[in-house]
Amino acid sequence: MTTPDYAEKIPNNVSLNEDRRLQRALESWQPNFLSWWESMGPTLPTEDVYLRTAVNVGREGWAQFGHVPMRDYRWGIFLAEREGDRRIAFGAHKGEPAWQKVPGEYRAELQRLIVIQGDTEPASVEQQRNLGATAPSLYDLRNLFQVNVEEGRHLWAMVYLLHAYFGREGREEAEELLHRNSGSEDSPRILGAFNEETPDWLSFYMFTYFTDRDGKYQLGTLKESAFDPLSRTCEFMLKEEAHHMMVGTTGVDRVVERTAQVMVENDTDDVAAYGAIPLPVIQKYINFHYSVSLDLFGGETSTNVANYYTAGLKGRWLEERRKDDHLLASDSIMVDALADGEIGQTEVAALVGLNTDLRREYISDCAGGVKRWNRILEQAGLPQRLYLPHIAFNRKVGAFAPIEASPTGERLSAGEWDARKGQWLPTETDKTFVRSLMQPVFQRGKIAAWIAPPRNGINGQPFDYDYVHLI
Ligand SMILES: [Fe+2]
Ligand SMILES: [Fe+2]
Repeated sequence: MTTPDYAEKIPNNVSLNEDRRLQRALESWQPNFLSWWESMGPTLPTEDVYLRTAVNVGREGWAQFGHVPMRDYRWGIFLAEREGDRRIAFGAHKGEPAWQKVPGEYRAELQRLIVIQGDTEPASVEQQRNLGATAPSLYDLRNLFQVNVEEGRHLWAMVYLLHAYFGREGREEAEELLHRNSGSEDSPRILGAFNEETPDWLSFYMFTYFTDRDGKYQLGTLKESAFDPLSRTCEFMLKEEAHHMMVGTTGVDRVVERTAQVMVENDTDDVAAYGAIPLPVIQKYINFHYSVSLDLFGGETSTNVANYYTAGLKGRWLEERRKDDHLLASDSIMVDALADGEIGQTEVAALVGLNTDLRREYISDCAGGVKRWNRILEQAGLPQRLYLPHIAFNRKVGAFAPIEASPTGERLSAGEWDARKGQWLPTETDKTFVRSLMQPVFQRGKIAAWIAPPRNGINGQPFDYDYVHLI
């Protein structure tokens, strides 16, 4: 690739150097991004970090690894390769060529979808900014920073679309993405779960398992979009997301593994005294993160989402593998609902039930993690098991928001809920305990007592590799 020097300021595979206006607009957004990163990004000072940087989008060798100072990380714009004759796979425009420009009639909706996706990316960096100070190992510290820089890059991905295709309004939205902040009183992030704090590493693993996984499913629906640049951006983002999922899945694996070890070694369930996290506390964290992540999928029914689908803006998870007409005009689906005040289901048109369809895909994916964690308990010879709470548990959005339910789906009065919720959700005592374990371990090859070391290092490196150089 022969790229002129000035284009190197923003690494990209979208021929930015051929569009000087766009290039200038993005170059003027860049310092604002960097000052956001300095003020809202990771707080732990580091010299450099062993990071993966996207350099290409091809099947092989799309990224390179090396020690880089984080502020020099090459945030860039990478879209998956263009499919020669990509056709729209669903909705009213099914079979027509994918759009290379934004159709005027869908401009507002597409912009909104991109802004909502874009808002989550920097939000998670903000939520995780203080975690470095308490990392259980250099390996984990490196993974945190990898997730952080890639979420920063995902913000770039959405900002590129806003700048390139949505004119002045798009540029204004790009600025707003840096002004809203997670948990801010005046201008919070758009979605609830992205204003919750991530105060400890157990929360971080749960977040990357449950909440980043919501992101995976949202990106999966946008990858189907008729708007080809959005589709190609999301396809490439999903590649990076796979690592975030791995951090969450194996992170919880390792916490459970360590807890199981301490339980067996000391023949006790009360592992807190030994500096490990008791299984009931792990369960409470699952309950919390799973239920707030379910809320991210919105209401069980949505006419907006039906319209997005019919318009071709947002498809279903693995749309092209679905064996139906991809129009759904005459299909129906059972969705969760309150029926005569009881937890039940009701039948609706498939189009308005698309949020439910996506949430179900997500739920069955989540069940995979629980299976893994239970296998660890089983292999340790322990009878205890972890589980996903009932879909009606602790919901703030959708059909079950008005009621209270136990993790097994038993309906509760407000009074019963208040009396018992401390058994199911992390209490101040639980959180304080977990936080008390969060003492940093920054020596190579060493790890905190509450978590097991990983089975594999990063990019073939051993666990005791010098993943991060602190200042
Ligand atoms: Fe992301
Ligand atoms: Fe992510």
